[in-house]
Amino acid sequence: MIRELLTERKLPALKCREEMLDLLQTKEYGILPPKPDKTEWKVEKNALPHGYCAEFCAGKGTVYRVTAEMTLGGKTFSFPFYAAIPNSEGKHPFFVSINFHDAVPDIWMPTEELIDNGFAVLSFCYTSVTSDNNDFTDGLAGVLYEDGKRGPADAGKIAMWAWAAQRVLDYALTLDALDADRCAVCGHSRLGKTALLAAATDERFAFCYSNDSGCSGAALSRGKNGETKDRICHVFPFWFCEDYCAAPADPAELPFDQHYLVASIAPRFVLVGSAEDDGWADPVSEFLSAAAASEAYEAMGLTGLVCEDALPTHDAFLPEGHIGYHIRPGSHYFGRTDWNRLIQFMNHHS
Ligand code: GCU
Repeated sequence: MIRELLTERKLPALKCREEMLDLLQTKEYGILPPKPDKTEWKVEKNALPHGYCAEFCAGKGTVYRVTAEMTLGGKTFSFPFYAAIPNSEGKHPFFVSINFHDAVPDIWMPTEELIDNGFAVLSFCYTSVTSDNNDFTDGLAGVLYEDGKRGPADAGKIAMWAWAAQRVLDYALTLDALDADRCAVCGHSRLGKTALLAAATDERFAFCYSNDSGCSGAALSRGKNGETKDRICHVFPFWFCEDYCAAPADPAELPFDQHYLVASIAPRFVLVGSAEDDGWADPVSEFLSAAAASEAYEAMGLTGLVCEDALPTHDAFLPEGHIGYHIRPGSHYFGRTDWNRLIQFMNHHS
């Protein structure tokens, strides 16, 4: 059944990782900015904006506010993030969380629960990097582009947020308390798209989690329900490179589909999360993309998605392969169930 559903989508065949990344960057998200020439980390211990932190996570963790101060093409750029690290001994697995908020903890990120499970979390607010709009003079965009003008294959906002997640990883890898072999980049919705791109283009991320990433994220564009390529380009053209939105509306005319993004993470682990009532993101297209990307893993002698020959429903969780998938009841949000699935997936593969 899954094979037939995939055949109906008439997907382009997978290519080698380099070619897929080239297509995704030059024709969809834009080319990621170069690494900074130099970075300094300004670290403040126990510096939460709301002034409370002595009993951070009931004394089980410590929070740091870090400012990444970088030199890039002769200009300077900085953005802040928070690192919440368990106080217990040993090396901790960790998340680089691309976040809608800058509060730590915030209602969408159960920091105490993550710390209880032995995980550290480094979180940044995406708009601290560059605004979520068409202003290409703001933040990192302003550093990259003269007068806010970019070329057709230059980075859109998603590529810039993905780049920032990689800078947070640069810092995480300097810490002895963190386990480089068990690091995940994660995000929800537009930031789930971002997490996939960050992991696809940076082999240091051992795990990736995209939650409800939908259109131009994990979901296949060919045959997609809900949001379409045409629609997203109309409303959010600044998330992508200019060439993506200038390309034909019909995704069948694109030389790639979104399974390239998932497949570019191979041989590393990726968990795709969907929500039952999230028709806009389209759980079936998210699942089929995971299934189609499996071929990249199989070519490496690994298992991709391990599933029955049926569409998963309700609260199915498929953690066995290098590509995992879960769907939960409910709508479009990143909640505790999703975080717990991610923890289970990482523990399963550690
Ligand atoms: C909009 C957009 C989606 C996106 C979502 C979000 O709904 O259409 O593609 O995932 O915003 O980021 O919340």
